[in-house]
Amino acid sequence: MDIQGYILRVILMFLISAPPAYSDQHLLPAPENISVVSINLKHFLHWDPVMAAGNVTYSVQSQGEYESLYMKHYWHDLENCQDISAHQCNVTDEVFASVLYKFRVRSMLGNQQSAWAELEPPFNRKTSLLIPPKVDLQVSGLNLVAQIEDYGPYFNFFVFYWQKGKQDDVKSKKTSSYNISTFLEKAEEGKEYCAKVIAHANPINKNSSSSDTVCIQVKEVKQSGLFTGLLCLFGVVLAFVPMGFAAWKAVTVMRYFCCPDEDIPDVLKESYVGQRMLKNDNSSKETSGEICSVEPHEHMLFQENTSFTVKMQTL
Ligand SMILES: *[C@@H]1O[C@H](CO)[C@@H](O)[C@H](O)[C@H]1NC(C)=O
Ligand SMILES: *[C@@H]1O[C@H](CO)[C@@H](O)[C@H](O)[C@H]1NC(C)=O
Ligand SMILES: *[C@@H]1O[C@H](CO)[C@@H](O)[C@H](O)[C@H]1NC(C)=O
Ligand SMILES: *[C@@H]1O[C@H](CO)[C@@H](O)[C@H](O)[C@H]1NC(C)=O
Ligand SMILES: *[C@@H]1O[C@H](CO)[C@@H](O)[C@H](O)[C@H]1NC(C)=O
Repeated sequence: MDIQGYILRVILMFLISAPPAYSDQHLLPAPENISVVSINLKHFLHWDPVMAAGNVTYSVQSQGEYESLYMKHYWHDLENCQDISAHQCNVTDEVFASVLYKFRVRSMLGNQQSAWAELEPPFNRKTSLLIPPKVDLQVSGLNLVAQIEDYGPYFNFFVFYWQKGKQDDVKSKKTSSYNISTFLEKAEEGKEYCAKVIAHANPINKNSSSSDTVCIQVKEVKQSGLFTGLLCLFGVVLAFVPMGFAAWKAVTVMRYFCCPDEDIPDVLKESYVGQRMLKNDNSSKETSGEICSVEPHEHMLFQENTSFTVKMQTL
């Protein structure tokens, strides 16, 4: 092996293993594969993590159309995405118009930092992917209600609903994202209802595809029918109680008249007849408590005497 060849190899090895000192600033590789994933107007910048020995962090800047045109291509720092170790950044709040937004990311490690790597092409929120919302049909009382997933302030929803078997008669309702529980219509017992929903993103005037169809069977309100029946029966029984009581009272008095017990003292007899008279006198006072508390007056005493006359005649 000749000396020259050896020296050349050593120099080559040196060049390969030791990067040139002047590029210190860009020693660290820049992030790659930068992309925006935007679903339902929520935007996230993603990039591949940079492989290096140590804890690599990242910082993100953006430049809207306004900065591009009127602010000499000013890049501004995204507050929530400075020196972060995640390799994604929520850029939703950066994007507030349907124009092009540029984003760039660099990696950092200790006092080293990479060159900026830019998103290509720039992002426009018009490309946001709209996914239909989750929807749930409910019946509360007999109100048919649609529960729609909350998509934030920029969405409306078109709800299409129909009674199963009447697919020709599809009704629709437009609802805002702030009313997540939407009343549809009065449901009929025992019928099945179905619904599907389309989300509409106002800022970009774009519709999602249609959600899956969800259905709900409205129960027959048998239980409440049974309950009403029981209540009626109870009412009827209650109504019969005073009548039964009156009948029992009448039977007792009649029995006393037909087959008088010789041993009953006069005081008791008087009290019995007095009660009966009071009942005839004032039929609205039916409870025994009231009757007992009323003192017999002269008119009653007179009636009492006639009653006794009648009794004597029967005998
Ligand atoms: C981007 O990522 C894909 C896989 O997700 C990979 O195949 C490709 O090489 C990456 N591109 C760059 C420039 O790193
Ligand atoms: C990286 O960070 C973790 C904690 O976040 C720490 O435990 C670890 O020592 C760090 N590594 C280096 C090389 O700085
Ligand atoms: C992203 O930011 C938006 C706007 O601030 C917020 O509504 C949303 O919840 C954030 N998403 C995540 C996953 O942090
Ligand atoms: C929104 O919901 C509230 C109760 O959650 C209700 O009082 C109101 O009427 C609803 N508005 C519309 C427009 O449906
Ligand atoms: C979105 O869907 C609704 C309901 O079908 C329709 O009235 C409206 O025109 C659609 N809007 C767009 C932009 O497609």
